[in-house]
Parts: sequence; C-alpha cells; structure tokens
Amino acid sequence: MPTLYLPPHFKFGAATSAFQIEGGWNADGKGPSIWDTFGHSPGKVKNDEPGDVACDSYHRYGDDIALMREVGLDTYRMSLSWSRLMPEGTGQVNQAGVDYYNRVIDGLLDAGVDPNVTLYHWDLPQVLEDRGGWANRDVADWFGEYATVVFDRFGDRVRRWATLNEPIAIWAGYGVGFFAPGRTDARAGRQAMHNALLAHGSGVQAFRAAGSPGEIGIVLDIWKRHPATQSARDVALAHEGDDDGFRFFLDALRGGGYSDRIRHRLQAEGTMPVIHDGDQELIEQPIDYLGLNVYSRIVVDSTKNDGSQFARTDPFPGGNFLDNGQEFYPRAVLDALNLLRDDYGWTGPVHITENGMADGPSSDSDPLQDDERIRYVSGFLEWISEAIREGHDVRSYYLWSLMDNFEWSAGFSMKFGIAALDPATLDRVPKKSALWYRDVIAAHRKTRPTAEQA
Ligand code: NOJ
Repeated sequence: MPTLYLPPHFKFGAATSAFQIEGGWNADGKGPSIWDTFGHSPGKVKNDEPGDVACDSYHRYGDDIALMREVGLDTYRMSLSWSRLMPEGTGQVNQAGVDYYNRVIDGLLDAGVDPNVTLYHWDLPQVLEDRGGWANRDVADWFGEYATVVFDRFGDRVRRWATLNEPIAIWAGYGVGFFAPGRTDARAGRQAMHNALLAHGSGVQAFRAAGSPGEIGIVLDIWKRHPATQSARDVALAHEGDDDGFRFFLDALRGGGYSDRIRHRLQAEGTMPVIHDGDQELIEQPIDYLGLNVYSRIVVDSTKNDGSQFARTDPFPGGNFLDNGQEFYPRAVLDALNLLRDDYGWTGPVHITENGMADGPSSDSDPLQDDERIRYVSGFLEWISEAIREGHDVRSYYLWSLMDNFEWSAGFSMKFGIAALDPATLDRVPKKSALWYRDVIAAHRKTRPTAEQA
C-alpha cells in the first residue's frame, strides 16, 4: 500500500469513453460515428475488429455499475455518444439515446458514484464528417447545439462536465490518419485543431447559458518531451513535440493565443489555420477546472527521429521500463502540474482524468495478475500526494480504465482495464489491481469525516 497524503475530500474514480465500451453501434436509432466507419474499413484497426459490440455497455451498464460498487469508486468518468443522441449530428434528438444515458446516470447516482461526463471523446457523427467534420469551422455551431441538448437533458444531475477529451486526437485523425476519419491533410488537421478549440468555447457558452449547476472544463494530455541531450536539434525536437501535443491548446486556452514559435512553424509549413476575429475570446472563456490525462513523458532524440509528422521522436526513455515497454516515470504528473502553473498560470482545480497502463507480456499467462499496474498506479498516486503537498489543487484521480476495452487503432490488443472481460460471456472479472484499488479507496475513506462518507 503506498504512503499517501491525500486530503479527505480527494476522490477516486475510473474512466471509460462511449465508443470504447458501449457497442450497440446501430441500436435503437443511433447513427454511425467516424469510428464506426473507420473500424469497418479494412486495415485501419488491429485485426480488423471494429467496436460494434466492445464491452456491450449499451446493454450491460448495470454490470459496470456493479463493478464500480465492488471497487468502491467515488466517481466515474464517461462520455456521451453524439451520434446516439443526435443521429443527424444536429436537429432531431434520439429519445432512446437520452433514455439510455438517463438509466446510466440514475444508476450511478443510486450507487453513490458521481458521474463526470465528457461531451466528446473522439466519435464524431459520420454525417458531420460528410460535411467536412472538424475541418469545417461550422463544427463549433454543431457542437454548441449538441451541448445545449446535453445540458438540457442531463444538466440537472451531472455536476462535472468536460467539453473535449484530448483534442490532439483530432490531429491524429485529420493530419496523420492513424485515427478516424483517417485523413492525411496537414492543413485540414491544423484547422481542425483550431476548430476544436472553437467548439470547446461554444460548449462552455452553452453550459453557462443553460445555467446548470456544476462545473465545466476540458481534458488535455501532457506527454512532456525531454530532450535526450542539450543539443540544439534535440531541444528543437522537444519544443516541436510539446507544441504539437499540448501547447497549441494551452496557448490558446490560457496564453492569449498561439505562440510565435507555433505561428512561425505553421506559417512556414503552410498549415497555419484561418483565425477569425473573436475566435480567441471564444476559446479563452473561463473554465472551472482542468482535466489532465497523464501517462508518462517522452524522451526525444534527434538521432533516432523517425521523421513522422506526428511523433518526430523516438520513444527512447531513461531506463526504468514497465513490462509493456513504456517508461515508468510517475513524476510526469508533478512535471505537468508545474508546467500548467509556471507556463500558463493555472493554479485552479485539476482533476487527473486519466492515468493507467496496458498489460504487458507478464499478464499473458494470467491476465488477472497485473502487479505491474499496481506498481504503476502506486507511483502516480505517490507523486500526486507530493504535488498536493507542494500546493497543487488536485481534487481527484481516475484510473484508465474500469475494464479492458476498445483501444482505438490497437483494437482489443491493448488492455488497460482493472477488470478483464470474459471473452465468452463478456462478464467483468476484477484483476488483482481492482482489489488493490478497492483497498486503497477504503483506507482513504476512513480519513473522511463521517458526513462525507455517506
Ligand atoms: C487516452 C484516451 O483518452 C483514451 O481513450 C485511451 O484509451 C487511453 N488514453 C489509453 O491510450
């Protein structure tokens, strides 16, 4: 058991997203999303396994909630499928989709688990993609309309919202093509990143207009680049990776606009997005918290540069490896929090909205024995404790993920869950880490005043 100094009000959760767990891809009036199309296109997803059924949470959400109860989660981070709620992307609302999320949200509340809901976790309605998708700036209005519907239907019960999850995925989908919709157009990709920020702004506006109680933020991932040496080329490579990965978004959200370094590079590449008057004001509206997904760092070495547009790095880490090959660097969470404070002046609340690791080969013989995950999560919780001790306002921690699920282009080959899925029955089977996490949460709960435990 790690030694933790977490305040009594600190909350423990687990996270998933709609497309990765729900299945029911065409059930009850749902429209296809770009990930349905991508998964049905040969060669896009590992083993050509689409997310048609995934964990079947569309039908088995009760099992998910039972698992959360067993682990004793305080809170659960989930997302909504836009094309389940609005199959045409705009306009008509699919009541069956509303009913489904009402059942999930009410079930969570009955179980004493607070829902934390993300509006967009990568599954754009295909009909909107057919109109240009994220590369079309009208997406900000489409998203605003969708957000208004969501706050109207669920705003009375959900207290924590996020507009977008990891908008860098939009670059992966439009600029590089390894995510849906699989486009490889750098100019469209940069425009799509800018448009995503506009959509975020529209979502915040819709939230304020709805007057719902609760709070809204955005979820960013920080994989800080560390230059392998102080050579000019390594340092430049690190800057480029940071700019592409997270500074693009933070500069606009918190820094008054894209930095000169970003502008110069994109202008030189001919990929600088078109920005209209008023865009910056829309993007930088106040938010209530920042969601931080943090998994590790990336050490960049220009002599190993693979030349790809996205990574431009070699994941050549400092030496402490997990069994799945990733570097174990739990201090990444403190580094990221310091960066938010020092470079962007953010001293407000932060929720660690994702942290976790995929099983490595040592789980092959027995998928339930995931000691590596316990080591990994312990390390991060210890560094979160340290960050809080140093004055960072970290309010909660969400382990990615509640159960093994559809890991995007890697299909079902990467397993991040604290529960496995029985391949025959799809039953959720807790791994060793789930039982360990249950004990961590129970020990922490004892530190809370009795009224809070209720
Ligand atoms: C980031 C994403 O938000 C999530 O969808 C993904 O499964 C995990 N990290 C693990 O890669």
